[in-house]
Amino acid sequence: MVDLERASPAAAHWPRQQYEGLFVTTGSRLLSERLAWVVEDECAAQPHKNSSEAASVLAFLVAHRVEAEWELENVVVAGAVRRRGAGTRLLNEFIAHARAKNGSGIFLEVRESNQSARGFYRKMGFEETGRRKGYYASPAEDAILCRLKFG
Ligand SMILES: CC(C)(COP(=O)(O)OP(=O)(O)OC[C@H]1O[C@@H](n2cnc3c(N)ncnc32)[C@H](O)[C@@H]1OP(=O)(O)O)[C@@H](O)C(=O)NCCC(=O)NCCS
Repeated sequence: MVDLERASPAAAHWPRQQYEGLFVTTGSRLLSERLAWVVEDECAAQPHKNSSEAASVLAFLVAHRVEAEWELENVVVAGAVRRRGAGTRLLNEFIAHARAKNGSGIFLEVRESNQSARGFYRKMGFEETGRRKGYYASPAEDAILCRLKFG
């Protein structure tokens, strides 16, 4: 996941420990939790079946819930397999999970210049609801706020 994120400038960038934290359960998940969905390359996984070597991660999505509200924190698809539906599959899995857990909706922030992600979210039913001035650094940029409300 870290390798994939590092290779994708448009992704949200986190320290490695934040990814390691995804595999640690701390306290109750009643009020909040963080979940990840991962697409692995099954073909790449075969030769490593009996070894501890990790299969190649082609795409992932990380989301955080506080009470009934979900935030999509990061979604990355490997450059070589973009525009083949992996992002749609991941987001649909996440939306189905959030709905099944009686979530009220999903929000996210995206860089204003990230037209591919904005197109992707729009196609998936998100509405652009506002802007946060200068939210991002390196390079400085506004964030566009998006929301998918469950009705
Ligand atoms: C955004 C991202 C996750 C989309 O994943 P993907 O697997 O390529 O998306 P899909 O193949 O499921 O595409 C679904 C729809 O999204 C839209 N879309 C995806 N990529 C697009 C692009 N480059 N330009 C315009 N629209 C795009 C299209 O409407 C597309 O449907 P179509 O192919 O039928 O036209 C992927 O481009 C990515 O990893 N980007 C870099 C990381 C990033 O920006 N993450 C978001 C941070 S907020």
